[in-house]
Parts: sequence; C-alpha cells; structure tokens
Amino acid sequence: MSDTHQAPPPPPPERRKFLKWVTHGLSALFGAVLGVPAVLYLIDPRNRPARAGDFKRVGKLSELEKNVPKQVVIRDVRRDAWTVHPNDVIGRVWLIRRDDDKIDAFTTTCPHLGCSIDYNAEQQLFVCPCHNGTFDLKGERQEQALGGGTNPAPRNMDALKVKLDADPVDPKGRLIEVKYEKFYQGEEDKKPKK
Ligand code: FES
Repeated sequence: MSDTHQAPPPPPPERRKFLKWVTHGLSALFGAVLGVPAVLYLIDPRNRPARAGDFKRVGKLSELEKNVPKQVVIRDVRRDAWTVHPNDVIGRVWLIRRDDDKIDAFTTTCPHLGCSIDYNAEQQLFVCPCHNGTFDLKGERQEQALGGGTNPAPRNMDALKVKLDADPVDPKGRLIEVKYEKFYQGEEDKKPKK
C-alpha cells in the first residue's frame, strides 16, 4: 500500500519572507506591551526608595498642644519579596511642642531592644512597656526604671531632625517635617542604620 500523505511544498520565498516579518513584528509588539508597565513602574516616584535625607511631613504645628507629646506615623514605600506597599506605616514618632514653639521629635523605637515606647501622662514620662525603660519629656534616660530597678535602656531616646515649613494654604500655619531614621539598639552610642 503506497503512502498518499506527502509533506506540503515549502511556501514560496516571498511568503516565507512575509511570515518572518510578521513573526518578528509580533515579538517586538509583545515586548513593547509587556515592557511598558515595567517602565511605568520604575519611573513612578512612589516606587523609588526614600532617599536618606528625605523629610516626611507629619502634621501641623497648630495640632500640637504645648508640652504634651503626640504620636504621629511615618509613611513611605515598603517592599515585600513581591509586593510594593506605596503608602505603608514604616515608623512612629513622638513630637513635643516646646514653649518657644520649637519641636522635638523622638522615634518611638526603644534603644534597649526595639519595643515601641509609650507615654505615661500621669507620670509625665516616656515608658517602654517591655522592660520599663524610662525617659523624661526631653527624651533623657532616667537612671531608675518606672516601678523600680535599673533602667535597661543604654541611652536617651533617639532624637530626629525636625523642620517647620510654610503652609501653602494657611499663611500663618506651619507644617512639621521629620527626617525619619532607624538606629542600632542595645548600644550606648546612637548609630544610624544605613
Ligand atoms: S525594649 Fe524597651 S526597655 Fe527593653
């Protein structure tokens, strides 16, 4: 029995050329379509890491009562392995408005082992809930921990740089900006993490 199936004849040279062009054209088109979101992602300022010198706006001067600490959050881009969180809470800061309207800012991260420091309004002290690390309203380490015993915190609360900017919608208003940084814990000296 003879084999009646034969391979189809190759397309003529012009057709081959045309198919080659179509194939390359489609590859280029897919490349462009898939590449556009990647480029947009890279040029979007929200996806760039905050630069070391960045100050973050945290509120208005008028929102702070004098000599009463107020906690604010710092937001920035945070990345997991696969996900970008463009406006996530990356830290917390205690702000205190002094009598002369200067602002002091301290990170809430305890210099002992990194728990979040609370404010005890009754005692007018900052107290860390983990091991009772205790600090006064200037962020200075107290020798004795609240409730007794030696304060385990090795140094004062970590102060942050603050600046006041003009408020574009309120000529008399001032906006507070804080340069948020993280520091190594458990050491007497304040050393910023890179
Ligand atoms: S972590 Fe704050 S006192 Fe230990």
